[in-house]
Amino acid sequence: MSAKPENLAAVIEEPKARLKTIVRPIPSPGEGEIVVHNHAIAANPVDWKIQDFGIIINKYPTVLGSDVCGIVTEIGPEVTKFKVGDRVAGFAGVIYNKDPDHGAWQTYTILREVATMRVPGSLSFVDGATFPMAFATTAVAFFAKLGLPRPDNVLNPYGPGFLVWGGSSSVGTAGIQLARNMGFRVFTTANPKHRDYLMSLGASEVVDYRDPHVVVTLIGLASAAGTPIQYGFDAITEGNSSLNCCKTLLGSGKKGGKLVLSNDWPTDDPKPEGIEISQTMAALAALSEVKLGTWLFNDYLPMSIERKTIRPAPMVEIVDGGIEAAQKALDKLQAGVSGTKLVVKLD
Ligand SMILES: NC(=O)c1ccc[n+]([C@@H]2O[C@H](COP(=O)([O-])OP(=O)(O)OC[C@H]3O[C@@H](n4cnc5c(N)ncnc54)[C@H](OP(=O)(O)O)[C@@H]3O)[C@@H](O)[C@H]2O)c1
Repeated sequence: MSAKPENLAAVIEEPKARLKTIVRPIPSPGEGEIVVHNHAIAANPVDWKIQDFGIIINKYPTVLGSDVCGIVTEIGPEVTKFKVGDRVAGFAGVIYNKDPDHGAWQTYTILREVATMRVPGSLSFVDGATFPMAFATTAVAFFAKLGLPRPDNVLNPYGPGFLVWGGSSSVGTAGIQLARNMGFRVFTTANPKHRDYLMSLGASEVVDYRDPHVVVTLIGLASAAGTPIQYGFDAITEGNSSLNCCKTLLGSGKKGGKLVLSNDWPTDDPKPEGIEISQTMAALAALSEVKLGTWLFNDYLPMSIERKTIRPAPMVEIVDGGIEAAQKALDKLQAGVSGTKLVVKLD
């Protein structure tokens, strides 16, 4: 006889508390929602930032987490694209709807159909968990903030220059792949040990972000390639990264460039004139940009994974221990990763 299913959850009971494992009721889906039995959950910086700084969440106790991958166990009314038994990944909504049933760090999570993607049998659950947050952030950045047209999936490595600062990060690897698919020639910054890997994802040039001449090098490479850089995505937005992005755009594409940041402008230095600067927010893919989110999750990602024009990235590092290991994963991510996505496996 198989054991009765239970919903083991890593709960944060009050602001800044450590996660505690408890049993919660298995949630029921509402209209347009599905319940997923999670087989893999990925960690994101916002998880430890919420815990460390007491930001974003205003209702406790709750369940944090945005990235899940598993099997659909129940569908709510009006769900048309998924059925029980489907392998899916999705962008869990707790960071914007504050509902703990929509948090990732538990056995069963509610996903909205609009933020759910089909995962083919050829992809493992841990690989499937790498996509949602990174691509929601990047799609909002590219299409809602930079105003670029959605890609037609024709690869053309000789298009105009696009800068992705921090190419080895989760968000940066999504940025490289999407920009490459859109026909841009992708210039990225990263630790040089990631060079071959990032080129395999679609970067044309990889420059060490710690090199004091990083900006001049990027401008020179774009000039030599005949592809001035007019668009930039700062996947890091820390220290001098955004200022360096602006300097690169101004030195390469001249005035009129557009830069999108992954966090608030990170320095006391004023924003330079001549570059249009905006900021992405992943949650918009399920809120005001829900048509974009639906296109991304329901259509573009499954199609591109099938065609192998989008791959899981960066390299997965599994954190052992199931739901009880959620705090370990957050602590490890806060301590810093290098070119890896931390994923907890649940089966
Ligand atoms: N606005 C939103 O909605 C949203 C959504 C998701 C994420 N974010 C934010 O975006 C940032 C990135 O998130 P993530 O999940 O992609 O992070 P991540 O994968 O944990 O980033 C770690 C990677 O960044 C690289 N890195 C660190 N500092 C760098 C720098 N100054 N220049 C270039 N690369 C650097 C590291 O490379 P090394 O190998 O060199 O150490 C490491 O590979 C975080 O601040 C996160 O909170 C925002």
